[in-house]
Amino acid sequence: MSEIPKAELHVHIEGTLEPEMVFTLARRNDVELPYASVDELKARYRFTDLQSFLDIYYANMAVLRTQQDFYDLAAAYLRTCGGQGVRHAEIFFDPQAHLNRGVAMETVVAGLSAAIDDTADPVSAGLILCFLRDEPADSASEALRLAEPFLDRIIGVGLDSAEVGHPPSKFAEVFQRAHDLGLRAVAHAGEEGPPEYVRDSLDVLGVARIDHGIRALEDLDLVARLRQERVPLTVCPLSNVRLGSFADITQHTLPKLMSEGLLVTVNSDDPAYFGGYVADNFAAVRSGLGITDEDVRLLAANSFRASFLDDDRKADLLAEVAAWSPG
Ligand code: HPA
Ligand code: ZN
Repeated sequence: MSEIPKAELHVHIEGTLEPEMVFTLARRNDVELPYASVDELKARYRFTDLQSFLDIYYANMAVLRTQQDFYDLAAAYLRTCGGQGVRHAEIFFDPQAHLNRGVAMETVVAGLSAAIDDTADPVSAGLILCFLRDEPADSASEALRLAEPFLDRIIGVGLDSAEVGHPPSKFAEVFQRAHDLGLRAVAHAGEEGPPEYVRDSLDVLGVARIDHGIRALEDLDLVARLRQERVPLTVCPLSNVRLGSFADITQHTLPKLMSEGLLVTVNSDDPAYFGGYVADNFAAVRSGLGITDEDVRLLAANSFRASFLDDDRKADLLAEVAAWSPG
């Protein structure tokens, strides 16, 4: 199958931890699991909201201990990229979740970045350090401080985990520090949280993209602003369905976001948990929402436009998208 070239801008590396790898790493590291089999684990992947997913996402991460584990995790994701048409990935990681378990920042960053270094052309990738918004702001500042020796391996910062009750303003200081260090910034907003969190991510955190942003549609002034300022939204359709924002894929508001003229991209979020990698998300919106070949071309082009790639590589990849023919 000829997959259109695309960038993936919203994928949590810990969310690519497949059930089989949970068991492999548990054996390797002598970690006891509360499940007897892969099937028993998969049976737990029925989520009602973001928190119900996060509980199992953080629990499974306990198997990630060594640099080799982080290498294997990222290498496995990057191997899938070829078959999904992904030519560039900007990959989230959650260091506080690992620091809390006694895993050093260096172990995490060295493992992930070695896998990126070993990835063959034509796939490129960068790392985005996400702060956990349900942890204190001081913990985020400490994570950034610990990452400073490795900033040559990190392109930006993000904000994830439980959204409601943890507004962007809580992280104003650490995002300012990240900007001062020359890092790019993105934030999850408007997934479960209100449109104000989208606006404050722009105004208070100075982000270049909004991750999810689906609830922006509740505020037409905000929609107009996102359109005017060409703010990219990294939408994750299968994630939104699995976490209960939409009853099924046919109810997803991706077509509305596109018809509003917003700079929308399609992404996988946590593909090991939500039923597919990025090309599977494209397939789902095609079959479930009547997204056409030309819509697909626009979504793919948007993914490069919204990326942090340099202008030359962007132009090359956009030319590939323009030359793509469905078939
Ligand atoms: N939302 C917030 N935090 C997350 C997600 C998400 O979809 N995936 C992993 N951490
Ligand atoms: Zn996410």
